[in-house]
Amino acid sequence: MDKLRIGIIGLGTVGSGVVKTLQNIENVEIVKIAVKNISKPRSVEVPASILTDNPYELVNDSSIDVVVELIGGVEPAWSYISAAIKNGKHIVTANKELLAKKGEELFNLAEEHNRVCLYEAAIAGGIPIIMPIKTILAGNKINKIRAILNGTTNYILTKMDVDGASYEDVLKEAQALGYAETDPTGDVEGFDAAYKITTLATIAFKQRIKIENVYREGITKIRKEDMALANEFGYKIKLIANASIDDEGNADVRVHPMLVSKSTTLAYIDYVTNAVALSGHPIGDIVLSGPGAGEFPTASSVVGDILAIQAEKGTTDYMLPMMRCHHSHTAKPVKIDDTFNKYYISITAPNAIGIIAKIGTICARKNISLASILQREVSANNTADIVVITEKCQEKLIKEVVNELDDCIVNSLIRVAE
Ligand code: HSE
Repeated sequence: MDKLRIGIIGLGTVGSGVVKTLQNIENVEIVKIAVKNISKPRSVEVPASILTDNPYELVNDSSIDVVVELIGGVEPAWSYISAAIKNGKHIVTANKELLAKKGEELFNLAEEHNRVCLYEAAIAGGIPIIMPIKTILAGNKINKIRAILNGTTNYILTKMDVDGASYEDVLKEAQALGYAETDPTGDVEGFDAAYKITTLATIAFKQRIKIENVYREGITKIRKEDMALANEFGYKIKLIANASIDDEGNADVRVHPMLVSKSTTLAYIDYVTNAVALSGHPIGDIVLSGPGAGEFPTASSVVGDILAIQAEKGTTDYMLPMMRCHHSHTAKPVKIDDTFNKYYISITAPNAIGIIAKIGTICARKNISLASILQREVSANNTADIVVITEKCQEKLIKEVVNELDDCIVNSLIRVAE
């Protein structure tokens, strides 16, 4: 049997899952594993002889076929990966930030050296999505993606909903349980989801998306009151990664909280589960869901990529043609102010005659139609809480409405999924 010889950089949660999974697979040999600290106790048993604290020992090892990069971040990962490709190695990576920021350079370099770079684990962890888009869905024109790509934020929003708790309280609990990082910025401000949708939209639309054109908002301003009100209106609030492309190639790619209707699957994707809803022709609409992170789900994707390379080793000079990057055109970005959305607006207004009329008049002047409006009894401090849901209108105009509501407090402005 022609064994595939691999080197792994990083033996954290995902790396350990990969090593444990490969222990039951005969045709792959782990030649070396690069770690930061060789003497650190680990959940997986590996012979000391294959551990090194110098990644270049495997990047420069001519007997290694594939470098598996599992450390994340742009540097030093990019230096190791680019050196490995130049040394003739194929790459398997779970590094969503590197793909989003340096994907173009990475795939050009891999093509130049006739090497493949596979990254199933980088997007939605254990959910098979990259290989399906590249292979069995290749005949489709995919024009829309709506996805939950970050487990930490989905966990926080689900707990806020179920427990009626505030963002701050749930974040603390999630940190104590290890679901959220000590510095949660990458997750809660939407960076992680933005990296993932950048790559996902690039491969689905077959046009390059630049991370700097991806609009991003996190979940830190979502109030428990918004959760309760959204429920009353028939919605859940989720951090949604959106991407759509029109027939002229204008791509609208963004990550932000959204009200999603309880009549859709995404409203029921709870806790750390991820999901990707795709629309295209001829497939129509599909939803894939499953674990978006974790030791074994992520290892499933990494090991699948390793085995895809193993299956073709020695059989062809041009490995895995369908998994390569075949496009170099960059999509035209749509600015967030030019997008059209429905909006949920939560307003605290003074208890004065004509407030509802004023909201209606400001919206009417901008040709914005109101779909729903709710006002509860006036509170003891003589203010009224009002919720408005609009029909679809331009983002620029809704921002003007918010500015013109100068005697009211606008608590929240959240887009509503159609
Ligand atoms: N931090 C990510 C999440 C998992 O919370 O989903 C790794 O991409």
